[in-house]
Amino acid sequence: MPTPHIAAPDGAFAPAVLMPGDPKRARYIAETFLDDAELITSVRAVEGFTGRYQGVPVSVMAHGMGMPSMNIYATELARFYGCTRLIRVGSCGALREDVPMRQVIACSAAGTDSSVNRHRVGGHDLAAVADFELLKTADRAAADLDVDLRVGPVFTSDSFYSGDTGLMGVLADHGVLAVEMEVAGLYGVAAAEGISALALLTVSDHLLTTEQLTPDERATSFADMMRVALAVAIS
Ligand code: HPA
Repeated sequence: MPTPHIAAPDGAFAPAVLMPGDPKRARYIAETFLDDAELITSVRAVEGFTGRYQGVPVSVMAHGMGMPSMNIYATELARFYGCTRLIRVGSCGALREDVPMRQVIACSAAGTDSSVNRHRVGGHDLAAVADFELLKTADRAAADLDVDLRVGPVFTSDSFYSGDTGLMGVLADHGVLAVEMEVAGLYGVAAAEGISALALLTVSDHLLTTEQLTPDERATSFADMMRVALAVAIS
């Protein structure tokens, strides 16, 4: 059934959906990694595709930027299209010296400055956590594929341009690996809808050193993350 933001026919999505932030990246993933990928929706130029990876149906659809956008797409995929496994594939800014550029991170949990998840649980904090089976699968797949994967918590911020410069240091001191803008939203939707979710991120910039990846480096690191994400998708 079409939703306000997705116009695919019933059954068009595979159970597993890879979710980059950037709509253009969704097309790139479909064309680069999937066989026989077909366009199934393009509302607001947010394209969704379904194809196959090693013979298994896999979909890809962007979630846009920020928790409100993530929550719309993740909820509609789960609630109206029956998708049961959502895998974010994105980028993040590292907060700690021991998290290098290009590091691939599997987000075990996400704190946030957003109140979106609190609205779900009477104003209290929701533990926004990854699906443990998917997390284990990612860890094993990374070892098999010789990808250096760091498992740990991230912080989902509502502000890319935050005025609170001290917060990132405090988070780093509490073991938080990186900052990004959607994971807590994805994990909140997964909890509410009773589905499985995992976020994999590549460090694209470093908040301590202000380094940023070059386009070539982005492509290489992204490929490592994608190999793990695809293994999780078809597991
Ligand atoms: N902040 C928030 N989101 C991000 C960042 C960042 O520094 N880098 C990549 N995604």
